[in-house]
Amino acid sequence: MRLFSSLVFLPTFIAVAFFSLSTSACEGDCITNTTNEFIRLYATPLKTLLDHTDIDLASRFNLPSSSKCVSYLQDAYAKIAYAYLENAIFPSYFHGKCQQRTANGTLVNPPGCPNPDCPVVCGTPGSMVHHYDALRNITVNSHEGMFALLTKQDSGSFQDVKTCVLGATTLKKCPQEPARTTRSFSRSFAAHFPRSLVGGSSSGFSPRGNCYDDTNFEKNLYDVLQAGMVQMWADVCDAKKDYAKCSWEKEMKAFILQFP
Ligand SMILES: *[C@@H]1O[C@H](CO)[C@@H](O)[C@H](O)[C@H]1NC(C)=O
Ligand SMILES: *[C@@H]1O[C@H](CO)[C@@H](O)[C@H](O)[C@H]1NC(C)=O
Ligand SMILES: *[C@@H]1O[C@H](CO)[C@@H](O)[C@H](O)[C@H]1NC(C)=O
Repeated sequence: MRLFSSLVFLPTFIAVAFFSLSTSACEGDCITNTTNEFIRLYATPLKTLLDHTDIDLASRFNLPSSSKCVSYLQDAYAKIAYAYLENAIFPSYFHGKCQQRTANGTLVNPPGCPNPDCPVVCGTPGSMVHHYDALRNITVNSHEGMFALLTKQDSGSFQDVKTCVLGATTLKKCPQEPARTTRSFSRSFAAHFPRSLVGGSSSGFSPRGNCYDDTNFEKNLYDVLQAGMVQMWADVCDAKKDYAKCSWEKEMKAFILQFP
């Protein structure tokens, strides 16, 4: 009889132990599903951003609309987004137990923690909901960080876009300046002017017409992508209104609180 009742209670005990463990933090599905849900929602502002960037590239480098060189950035984003975002949200910010130190040095759970509303910054759904502004900022800033990585000149994605643009542009390479002119010009003026002015065009086009400046091509492409992705991101997310377009506050709070 005693053996029978302990066997009956064993699963209950395991279930209770597991349940209390899972109430203490955002772990497992809470981490993966929350991260994936943000990535799913960010697909919309990301598309807006990439569409703008595509238009910018097309007009600066005379690309046919079919070239879609930004798809390389989209692919590279898809590869890094999950790991980057999960790392930025969880181990970097929302982690640890929610206890507060009392005057005598002992640790106690603050009232209302872990759920549904925890004023301590820690690794629970209640904390993520209470500090939703910080969570939203982390996701917005992480995207900016990822765009900066994807558009670095030595990144694979930047080089892929470069190859794509060079293959698709209908512009011809500008003829090289005669060496003698360049030399005498730089000899007399180089000391007085910044390199970009001495080099001429900063737009990627020769002042003489429909050609691209080969020596500055990579820098010009970099400028378009930086302006397109990093700077435009603030507008796409509506930074002036607390990133209203990259917030999803109501639905994300409900999503996060489905986890115990
Ligand atoms: C988390 O996501 C997975 C895959 O989409 C799904 O099967 C699972 O039910 C989700 N978990 C919860 C608790 O919603
Ligand atoms: C420390 O203070 C808390 C309340 O702030 C009290 O509950 C606890 O018993 C105290 N512990 C000791 C060892 O005095
Ligand atoms: C989130 O970002 C906005 C805009 O930059 C800023 O005003 C606000 O203080 C930030 N909030 C938190 C909690 O970091």
